[in-house]
Amino acid sequence: MAGIKYFTTPIYYVNSYPHLGHAYTTLVVDSLARYYRLKGYEVFFLTGTDEHGDKIVKAAQKVGKSPQEFVDEIATIFRKTWDSLLVTYDNFIRTTEERHKKVVQYILQKLYEKGEFYLDEYEGNYCFGCERFLTSKELDEEGKCKDHKTPPVYLKEKNYFFNLEKYRPWLKELLEKEDLIYPSFYKEEVLNLLEEPLPPLCISRPKARLSWGIELPFDRDYVTYVWFDALINYLSGIGFPENPSWEKLWTNSYHFIAKDILKPHAIYWPIMLRALGLPPYKKLFVHGYWLMHKMKMSKSLGNIVDPLYLSQKYGRDILRYYLLREMAFGYDAEFSLENFILRYNADLANDYGNLIFRTLNLVEKHFKGVVQPYGELRPEDLELRAVVEGALKKYEKYFEALQFHTALEELFQAIRYANVYIDRTAPWKEIKEGRLERAGTILRNLLSAIKAFAIALSPVLPDSSETLLRNLGLNLKDLSFEDTTNWGLPKEGSIVYKGSPLFPRIEKEEISEMKIQEPIKEESKEEKEVYPIEEFRKWDLRIGKVVFAEKVQGADKLLRLEVLCPEKRQIVSGIAQYYKPEELIGKEVVIVVNLKPAKIRGILSEGMLLAAHDDKGLTLIVPEKEVTAGAKVS
Ligand code: MSP
Repeated sequence: MAGIKYFTTPIYYVNSYPHLGHAYTTLVVDSLARYYRLKGYEVFFLTGTDEHGDKIVKAAQKVGKSPQEFVDEIATIFRKTWDSLLVTYDNFIRTTEERHKKVVQYILQKLYEKGEFYLDEYEGNYCFGCERFLTSKELDEEGKCKDHKTPPVYLKEKNYFFNLEKYRPWLKELLEKEDLIYPSFYKEEVLNLLEEPLPPLCISRPKARLSWGIELPFDRDYVTYVWFDALINYLSGIGFPENPSWEKLWTNSYHFIAKDILKPHAIYWPIMLRALGLPPYKKLFVHGYWLMHKMKMSKSLGNIVDPLYLSQKYGRDILRYYLLREMAFGYDAEFSLENFILRYNADLANDYGNLIFRTLNLVEKHFKGVVQPYGELRPEDLELRAVVEGALKKYEKYFEALQFHTALEELFQAIRYANVYIDRTAPWKEIKEGRLERAGTILRNLLSAIKAFAIALSPVLPDSSETLLRNLGLNLKDLSFEDTTNWGLPKEGSIVYKGSPLFPRIEKEEISEMKIQEPIKEESKEEKEVYPIEEFRKWDLRIGKVVFAEKVQGADKLLRLEVLCPEKRQIVSGIAQYYKPEELIGKEVVIVVNLKPAKIRGILSEGMLLAAHDDKGLTLIVPEKEVTAGAKVS
């Protein structure tokens, strides 16, 4: 085993649905987890939800639910979103779970017995958005909270406090000595904060004001401050203190956050650990914000992008690729749908997709899909190998340094070079002129390069890499990163398939229709418009018999059907979540046949199926008795 990596994402608040910002952190960690597993590491990946505090109570009240009902619902949505984006977390921790509460109370009791907390009366400006007292520096000129733009409430309360100041010299020294925070400019930011005395951290909330939290084990009138509770997930999620394996994971722990929560992670958390007698985490990785129209994407600003909608509409691999390729880790990045499409069309559809299609098409067409033996290798063949191997080295280096955008760019340079290689060596010309051995050698070299790309990209493009490797006669589960440079794979004599296009181009005409989230349907209160029967007669509806059906690669919702009505037509239909391809074959359906043909995910669709929708889902309209294919529906 190469080593151990324990990766965490923040545990997200359940006062709103997951958005693209949450998805970024989670997908970065997932890509790294997949990468290190591929390299033979033991990886433990923890994510989860932060479910206590004022914010949650207020959000639940707003929709008329109990806090527990509310958090159960949203935590499920988070989990399902990550499942649908193929996130391979090993554990999902919720702060309302008994296993977490027990650990929080254990730690509180321990620190209380050590004399780390003291009861004090405090009065000051309390921000319900931040869920804490603010210092005067944290208020704007109008006396409002700088983050939430709302006026704080003046409160006078008895609470338990944790003396952070005592640990300031130790923390300063630790940060100066060790590279605990990456990129280092965030470390500098923390060191700046540590220039001034640290105010005591209020770790409790009186139950009289807020009861939705973990009770202090030493004073039943109080619950725990939400941040003190939340940070402990990184220990409760690995079974601290009972499960003996927590220690080996903890000593290899890597936290991933955005800069919004730098202070609790870089100041409170190391101090809490120190007070407990535990070592700090191994590293804190901090990224910037996804912006929309130059503002941080956030629920309160309402400028959010729904990652689930984007991935279901355009493909989950595409979303993953875009997020990792566009953001330089540590810095802010602007999201735009236009950029999303440009990046997809340029890199995945054009460069990578074309290389795959051209190579596999030639092998399938001229060699019946059989992988040929290598003949004599020429300098240009060895050059391709050298370029691919060089790019892989750089890819590893940058990936491990979290510079995903550079890592991907390096690999795509090799992909573009492979396209140049195929143009220069022109295997189709060799075939035409009867030099089959030479053509077989070039194609085998290309197949092996494609296999290298598929393996290396599998942490970022898990879905398409798995399909592509299967089409190359290989199984991702049996492969490791080392196999990228095994030029003997795929093996001579094995069979490869072209399959359906993995990255069909998004056409111009589709782009104007594209959205970043499900449009909100406004119920019209006006009377519905009525039309003369002639209008209805314009539509040519026919009975069609489905003779073939298959999933469209990379599109969760789409099926490609071949339907007789009576001539054969190809229809792309968004019914994959309701019907399996095999259920449809032989079925008679109602089709609109005089719709203008359209390209959907690059596939021509010549008609539309009629279906009924309700809150249970979708059902196709089918004739009651068997009818001749092509019969008119009126
Ligand atoms: N519950 C706390 C975290 C406790 S961890 C012990 C919390 N939750 S949150 O729902 O607000 O999530 C914040 C995190 O979500 C950020 O640190 C980041 O990982 C992610 N992001 C939320 N919005 C983001 C952007 N606009 N851009 C990038 N990441 C963003 O804070």
